[in-house]
Amino acid sequence: MHPETLLVSAARPAHEPDAPVNEPVHFSSTFIGWEPDTAGPRRIYGRMSNPTWDGPERLLAALEGIADPETTPGLLFSSGMAALAAALHLASAGGRVLLPQHAYQGLGSLAQQMQAEGRITVESVDITDTSAVSRALSDPTSLLWLESPTNPMLEIADLPALIEAAHAAGALVVVDNTFATPLVQRPLTLGADVVVHSVTKYLAGHSDVVLGAALTGDPELHARLLRHRSLHGGIAGPMESFLALRGMRTLALRIERSQATAAELARRAHQSAAQGNLPIAQVWYPGLPSHPQHELAAAQMSGGFGSVLTLEVAGGAEAADRVVQALRLWVPATSLGGVESLAERRRRFGAEPETVPEGLIRLSVGIEHVEDLWEDLQQALRAVTASASPGR
Ligand SMILES: Cc1ncc(COP(=O)(O)O)c(C=O)c1O
Repeated sequence: MHPETLLVSAARPAHEPDAPVNEPVHFSSTFIGWEPDTAGPRRIYGRMSNPTWDGPERLLAALEGIADPETTPGLLFSSGMAALAAALHLASAGGRVLLPQHAYQGLGSLAQQMQAEGRITVESVDITDTSAVSRALSDPTSLLWLESPTNPMLEIADLPALIEAAHAAGALVVVDNTFATPLVQRPLTLGADVVVHSVTKYLAGHSDVVLGAALTGDPELHARLLRHRSLHGGIAGPMESFLALRGMRTLALRIERSQATAAELARRAHQSAAQGNLPIAQVWYPGLPSHPQHELAAAQMSGGFGSVLTLEVAGGAEAADRVVQALRLWVPATSLGGVESLAERRRRFGAEPETVPEGLIRLSVGIEHVEDLWEDLQQALRAVTASASPGR
């Protein structure tokens, strides 16, 4: 079945008279079990398993192209960070981990903390430079972490080439697929060992739930991730799992709309920057021909270029802050992937590296009408120009 159909039809009760159309939510911390020595009880306790997880976990595995979602279903976690932490712990003790220089900053902070504790050693690499990453892999490496597009610089990694180079060097490959979603790219089918998601973003899609997922088709890695989840305890609540599945029902429609709008806004912003009509220094969007890895993105991202674009406002941090404050429709908040459009100056976070421009605003495009979003963006950018003009 096509992903659009799977998203709607999977994880529903069997077609039987009087059956509900949706699976119920199971609020239970423990499960009845006897005959412990037989094949009998599987669920045992709510930290190990909950029937409410089953639907979204199998659906996610099918979407990411896992051949046998029954044996290696996705694993829901209490947050994207809990899933990222489980995957980072796959690195061998004292092992070297290569991270993208512009990966999600929470990952960088966690990796630094694990390094300070002597758990791993961390090196950052420019994942747009395939030969530089390959050279870095010539020193013994336990794990290569990839994110494509990266947050917030929207860089594209050559996934097949980097996965092959890492495997040749004996390293595991984890890909954070949050920005692309499995509708746009499926890293496991390109050979990655593990995919992680902040389900909080596009998959759940309504900014009303915090949840994560880790996926692998390898039974041994699956067992390790599952063990990590059961022992560290970062499990999904039943209500959050239900909300994530409900959000996923409309994923294809939401992504179709938000990507089309993001592409159009990027085109207009780029044009306005070139003409000098608006105080925009630069626009990043993988779908723009001006993006440095546009051709790679076009070859690798099958369903579009994602729904996030970033603008560098001319005038730096102060001007960018004023643009965000002047927005009326775009919501000035962190995060991404919801139905509502969000805007944020990323360097307001201390953990964001200095290579991210001070005036960079990350725009997460939702499903509102493109003309309303463009009008609001223009008026906010013009308000800054007007207040900066002499005599005003
Ligand atoms: C790319 C990416 N990965 C992981 C995370 C962490 O996910 P969560 O906030 O659900 O813990 C985020 C959050 O912004 C993210 O953008």
